Amino acid sequence: MAGTGRTEIDFSVYNPFDIEFIKDPFPTLDRMVSEYPVAYHTGINAWLISPHDLVMDALREPRFSTRMSDWKDSPPVKPEPEWTLHDRVGQYSLLFVERTEHLRLRRLTNPAFSRRVMDKIEANIADAIAGIFDEIENPREFNVATDIALKAPVRSIARMVGVPPEAAELFEHGLGWNSVRAGNPMYSAAEREQFAHDTLPGLQYILDMVAARRAAPDGPGDDFIGTLIATEEDGERLTDMEIVSLIQGLVVAGADTAVDVHTMAVHALLAHPGQWALLRARPELHESAVLEILRWGAPGKFGGIPRFPLADTEFDGQLLEKGSFVMPLFSPAWNDAAKWPEPRRFDITRDHSGNIIFGAGPHLCIGLNLVKVQAKLMIEEFERRFGDTAKLTGEIEYDPLHFNARRMTRLMVATGA
Ligand code: HEM
Repeated sequence: MAGTGRTEIDFSVYNPFDIEFIKDPFPTLDRMVSEYPVAYHTGINAWLISPHDLVMDALREPRFSTRMSDWKDSPPVKPEPEWTLHDRVGQYSLLFVERTEHLRLRRLTNPAFSRRVMDKIEANIADAIAGIFDEIENPREFNVATDIALKAPVRSIARMVGVPPEAAELFEHGLGWNSVRAGNPMYSAAEREQFAHDTLPGLQYILDMVAARRAAPDGPGDDFIGTLIATEEDGERLTDMEIVSLIQGLVVAGADTAVDVHTMAVHALLAHPGQWALLRARPELHESAVLEILRWGAPGKFGGIPRFPLADTEFDGQLLEKGSFVMPLFSPAWNDAAKWPEPRRFDITRDHSGNIIFGAGPHLCIGLNLVKVQAKLMIEEFERRFGDTAKLTGEIEYDPLHFNARRMTRLMVATGA
């Protein structure tokens, strides 16, 4: 039975827009884990879940849906005749489709995200990352946040998808950043509608690109898009619209989230010279280093995909009502001392088994190999160019209004370049 008292909190306990929280969230994260493991936030109108093991349970919980229409306050859907290409593509989103459909989409998309395909495109991504470093105006002193971190994720996705250079701008801004903004609750409904409208040329471009590859006389090829087109399971294949939706989903889920891995990597490694030296001596630690950079950096303010209980559900002694908004929080879970001994110690040799850095269960991050590859390539390029000389300088500044990340806007480094 659920306990009698409902645990409620408000912005006085958890305010992810408070600059003091953004600069140093860790006392608040500890408090969430120990005092408010499952609590209803009356300012956000959502249940927040914080300890590592409970977040893991929530991510795997079959009684929680991610379909927007299962939320009791879900916004009304436009009538079908008014749908734009943006609305139609949204119907196939991995994040929000119903469970059986989600399983089918994941089965058909997983081969395109395998290490095999990623290894094939690693050289393209390395080239994109080197290009970003070449663009740094003053390599002797520069801002990692704007000169590297903002550019690397969306350009990596473009290289993964195989967008040709002449369409790079259309993909990066026309489709990429407009898609991210169209889903950003900090903008008004009218602004979001405008951003959605501005994605249309980019979406149409991708739709045409997929159709052309499908019709190519020598077959679709074995790169990322070719693999998506060719994958067949039990006689089923992805449709063109499903592939376009997936690519837009990658931009929405991956262009903004992965920005922080680059700033946090430079911050964490330069602030811990012993760990930086260890990584340079033992490159096989790169994968573990990326997990530790994210865990220690704790960039997220909220969670990933919201969950909506399909029926009234008891969870850790609280009654989560049917259709309520449930948010498993990642940053407190990644710093929960019950899972991570001495959580504030940055240690790239830490045992990360059982981690939920990229989630767990059916919605496990589909872009995790891309994140690991792009972060490794950025760190290697940084080391090649500035390894022995780079130093952090000045104060770190953050964007207090970013809706989901403790986003650095200024991370200055001085180098001997
Ligand atoms: C530092 C970077 C990233 C982190 C920490 C991260 C983390 C996560 C987490 C925790 C989830 C699960 C969310 C949940 O179940 O609530 C997730 C899902 C997802 N991620 Fe990532 N991610 C990152 C970058 C990316 C990138 C670069 C891409 C695409 C190229 C991507 C694509 C996705 C997609 C499509 C999903 C939803 C999968 C599904 O619903 O089946 N992510 N990510």
